[in-house]
Amino acid sequence: MTKETLAREIRMETEAAGHGAIAIRGVGKSYRTGKTEFQALGNIRLDIAANEFVTIVGPSGCGKSTLLRIVAGLEEASVGEVTVDGVAVVGPGADRGMVFQGYTLFPWLTVRQNIEYGPKLKGVPILERRAVSNRYLRITRLESFANRFPKQLSGGMKQRVAIARALANGPKVLLMDEPFGALDAQTKLEMQEALLDVWAKEKTTVLFITHDIDEAIFLSQRILVMAAGPGRMIGEYQVALPAERTPEVREHPDFLKLKRELASLLKHKEA
Ligand SMILES: Nc1ncnc2c1ncn2[C@@H]1O[C@H](COP(=O)(O)OP(=O)(O)OP(=O)(O)O)[C@@H](O)[C@H]1O
Ligand SMILES: [Mg+2]
Repeated sequence: MTKETLAREIRMETEAAGHGAIAIRGVGKSYRTGKTEFQALGNIRLDIAANEFVTIVGPSGCGKSTLLRIVAGLEEASVGEVTVDGVAVVGPGADRGMVFQGYTLFPWLTVRQNIEYGPKLKGVPILERRAVSNRYLRITRLESFANRFPKQLSGGMKQRVAIARALANGPKVLLMDEPFGALDAQTKLEMQEALLDVWAKEKTTVLFITHDIDEAIFLSQRILVMAAGPGRMIGEYQVALPAERTPEVREHPDFLKLKRELASLLKHKEA
């Protein structure tokens, strides 16, 4: 067997094993406050394929962040299990990158050092690390701020550093909880396009939370709607739009139709 065939076989095996397939099996979460027990999440069952882009929408308090934190390994499920590529989640890991609203940066590190933090921890050599940080500084349009410290940045810029830092780790799964919520409209659109670009190139699986229906439709292949009491899935929509999401997609009749359907389902739930 030649070296090339061997390399190809190894690659095929790795690909067959999947990159970031998430399985959520009967996950529930209860919180106890004093004597009362509050069920934040019911019996959630969900499969997300490797390289799929799935978005969750739903009214405030329905358990979206709780679910994402469980997948991230930041919180333990009361019942049920989450696996990534068949491996049970027992805590945070470099295979899952996280971008949460208000996610804190290391204040004592510069923008570039924050972005290079993960690769450095993994022992990536300096020149390679530089290439990685350059790439994500460019994508998040932070090149001229590489040497600044977090306290010298605006809120939106900090959020972009957090995104760059998550991406620089090359995670199999990206977990994003309203990552663009604090950005101005123009930057938000740019970041959405940048995220789709990264997703297409790096074949990550994305689980994304947003309140913005337009954002959900523009980004996703599939949208899940949650409702509260206890947190559960009440709707699932495949987004049948062209794979290449150009800004014109927002005018597509299917986009507008789905937008109306989602808005009506959410309005009904919020009432
Ligand atoms: N640590 C906790 N202790 C007690 N209750 C909690 C805790 N964390 C979350 N909850 C409750 O669980 C429910 C779900 O919260 P969660 O943050 O997941 O909602 P969400 O869907 O992300 O809402 P939002 O859209 O406002 O971010 C809420 O009713 C919340 O009060
Ligand atoms: Mg939340």
